[in-house]
Amino acid sequence: MALLTSKLRYLLLFYAVFQAAQFGLRWKSYDISPKQFKTIAGKAAAAPTISQSISTLTSGMRTYYEPIMPSHFEWHAIQLGGLTLRMYPMLTAFTEFAAAFSAPFPTSGRPGLHWANTTCTVLKGKVSRFNDGTQDETSENFASGAAFRHGQFESHVYSFEKDTYVACYGRGFLPLSSTVHVTSGISLGEPLSVIQFYMKQAYNYWNNLSHTLYRVFQHYKARATGEL
Ligand SMILES: *[C@@H]1O[C@H](CO)[C@@H](O)[C@H](O)[C@H]1NC(C)=O
Ligand SMILES: *[C@@H]1O[C@H](CO)[C@@H](O)[C@H](O)[C@H]1NC(C)=O
Repeated sequence: MALLTSKLRYLLLFYAVFQAAQFGLRWKSYDISPKQFKTIAGKAAAAPTISQSISTLTSGMRTYYEPIMPSHFEWHAIQLGGLTLRMYPMLTAFTEFAAAFSAPFPTSGRPGLHWANTTCTVLKGKVSRFNDGTQDETSENFASGAAFRHGQFESHVYSFEKDTYVACYGRGFLPLSSTVHVTSGISLGEPLSVIQFYMKQAYNYWNNLSHTLYRVFQHYKARATGEL
């Protein structure tokens, strides 16, 4: 009986924390508009070559979100539940991310359940997926220019054709999503690429923070010397 009540207490605590986080996510303000991201990604998908697509995507993002973007973008190795991809992060924060992914070779896998809603546009190539929760025996296919949504706690098996590029934007509780990235990387014997990735993201944060602090400092300095 005592064991049962202590288990129940944990369950109730877990439920309370979940509800609180759910509430926080609903009321949080986000930096990126999903509609605008989709518009930018759609324009990028219409570009004739993939390098033009990526530059349309990054310049579109910089036009609207320059202050929150890292100073430069680069590709990183990423393993996501069997998918061997490259990731091009444009924004990685605790509750939202924007990134392009590419599959240089055909790859398939299950990126897992996420506490986040993500929408992706295929820039080039083809993505197929199969919903684990469905009774349906058919898979969905998305060609260049098509968009798909991976809702929170949904599970799909994905297959990317050779040379596929997608642009994704997601919102939710993302530290939880990094577990699939970290464990997939480590299980494939790639802990260093995982460490490199997070060090780079932490560096971007620090860079942003130091810029902000510098601006605040300049502001007060100017005020102290009577320039305002
Ligand atoms: C970067 O700094 C700006 C303010 O200068 C802030 O609004 C933004 O949220 C920061 N972005 C990240 C990713 O920390
Ligand atoms: C994801 O979308 C659903 C349905 O639109 C919504 O109820 C939920 O709060 C969203 N989740 C997050 C983490 O934003």
